[in-house]
Amino acid sequence: MKENISINLRNAGAFVSQEEILALAQQSVRHLDSLNAGTGAGNDFTGWLTLHEDVVIQLDRIEKTARHLRSVSDTTVVIGIGGSYLGAKAVIEALSHTFSGLQKTKHHDILFAGQNICEDYLSELLDILEGRNYSIIVISKSGTTTEPAIAFRILRDHLEKKVGKAQAADRIIAITDASKGALKSLAELSGYDTFVIPDNIGGRYSVLTPVGLLPIAVAGFDIRNLVKGAQAICEVTRKNHNASSNPALLYAAARNLLLQTGRPVEILVGFTPKLHYFSEWWKQLYGESEGKDGRGILPASVDFTTDLHSLGQYIQEGQRILFETMISVGSPRHKLTIPKETDDSDQLNYLAGRRLSEVNRSAEAGTILAHNDGNIPVIRIMVPELDEFYCGQLIYFFELACAVSGYILDVNPFDQPGVEAYKKNMFALLNKPGFEEEGKKLREKI
Ligand code: PA5
Repeated sequence: MKENISINLRNAGAFVSQEEILALAQQSVRHLDSLNAGTGAGNDFTGWLTLHEDVVIQLDRIEKTARHLRSVSDTTVVIGIGGSYLGAKAVIEALSHTFSGLQKTKHHDILFAGQNICEDYLSELLDILEGRNYSIIVISKSGTTTEPAIAFRILRDHLEKKVGKAQAADRIIAITDASKGALKSLAELSGYDTFVIPDNIGGRYSVLTPVGLLPIAVAGFDIRNLVKGAQAICEVTRKNHNASSNPALLYAAARNLLLQTGRPVEILVGFTPKLHYFSEWWKQLYGESEGKDGRGILPASVDFTTDLHSLGQYIQEGQRILFETMISVGSPRHKLTIPKETDDSDQLNYLAGRRLSEVNRSAEAGTILAHNDGNIPVIRIMVPELDEFYCGQLIYFFELACAVSGYILDVNPFDQPGVEAYKKNMFALLNKPGFEEEGKKLREKI
């Protein structure tokens, strides 16, 4: 049996004591209880708690659809934004060959659209798709989000012109609400195969629904192991009332205590670029869940050692308003040692024969000590390796901890009312029917 991810609070201990963390974690058992009982704020959106059990019956169909898309195309464009984009992107980036786009071996490329409204991005994507035999997965829970809707209109038109309406319909999959929204009606009208995002799961908690699982399966990864990982960490967290052995409670407690000691910024740190988009997913999860009612910890992220040569200076010596959460990955997938040179002109022979991962681990340990010396607390999440199983663990762990943390902060971790503000203005400025008056007022202000 594989071991679980774990939390190491030793390098936060000089800033908040282990006793304080444990005490708040133990008090937070009541938040776990209200999540499980469905009695807390946003209780209509806690379906993700047992998702890894509920989704199992869909795995065959998801895998079958993935095989179909892989057999009829060499590329799949996944259209979606926010929670309908970041989970799949995070897992695919974590598990893929870093240079998969340049690999000569036959593989299926996953490209993303609808996560911005940039004309150049979509035009350049169309340039690439001219030479590709592609499919589309379009994802929107509401079915009305502007960014993916625009991208889908443009790409659908492109694909239909390229392969004909019937062929296009055979390679477009829509993932959306069971009954509501423009995407649902469009899918029905056009005969697209569809998957449902359950009503009781919000976008950023939806990675383990077809929203994340279908793109990840099309990319060629083992979604059963991903789900198993979530299941395994759920078993030691969701109903575990013993806070000292519940990493989700400890993490939620530690970060809230650090906030209370005057650190409103949390930086998620990875020592591998493979985690870059995992941090983006995490930022959305925590930012949208906690940032409301004038509260919340600002989630930021860095990739080390790259960013030790940019933001590293600020972290070491800037305003002491932050703490770090480091994802420490045990073993890399590959093995690479540093060669010996006879003349040692670059003076690196002291490293000859040693693995890059040893150097990276020393960089990590050195950074923790330096940042502790610079008065920065560091929480560590220990992950044995980056595979499907541990991606599943990280996803469930961070989701559960986020929900508990939101309850500690006394906010509803499952809504995102603030996201509407820019949309209203954008619609008004674009003269969307019904927004004309507001548009006039706004134009006077610009
Ligand atoms: O977490 C969320 O709910 C949001 O980030 C949504 O996922 C995002 O706004 C996209 O919404 P939709 O899937 O309805 O297009």
